[in-house]
Amino acid sequence: MNLFISKSIAMVLSLLLAMGFGIWLSRLERPLNGIVFAFHKILSIAVIVLWVTNMIYLQNNVGLLTLEAWFLGMTALLFLFAIISGALLSFDRTSTSAVMISHRVSAILVFVSALVSFCLPANRLG
Ligand code: HEM
Repeated sequence: MNLFISKSIAMVLSLLLAMGFGIWLSRLERPLNGIVFAFHKILSIAVIVLWVTNMIYLQNNVGLLTLEAWFLGMTALLFLFAIISGALLSFDRTSTSAVMISHRVSAILVFVSALVSFCLPANRLG
């Protein structure tokens, strides 16, 4: 299996696992469970690293069309939003229901946007 396919599978699995660990984390009592929280953060960083390297590969091999470049920019902003809202949620003082809703919404949007931005150009690979 080539490296790009392995990294694509790892990216989708990490994204699903990051969401799963996030849902598990929010079902647990506060203070946040350190191990579940650590897995949630590591997996979300893995998703970002794998998504960025896959998108660089796609840009170098098939190039990105205008719509795909828009999706790329939107996904990058959504990742940033998920990280900021996630960081705010991790402190009791800044963990409000508005921040929780922002994190939830950005997680769902990042899920859709990361997959669309990746699948559209990946479809054109020979
Ligand atoms: C790709 C990035 C991320 C995604 C897709 C994501 C997704 C999620 C999801 C789906 C939940 C469960 C929400 C619910 O049950 O309604 C969650 C919870 C949580 N996430 Fe993330 N997350 C991401 C990044 C981060 C980061 C970087 C941090 C910390 C710096 C973080 C901190 C948290 C915390 C603290 C909770 C639990 C909140 C609570 O219940 O009090 N997340 N995340």
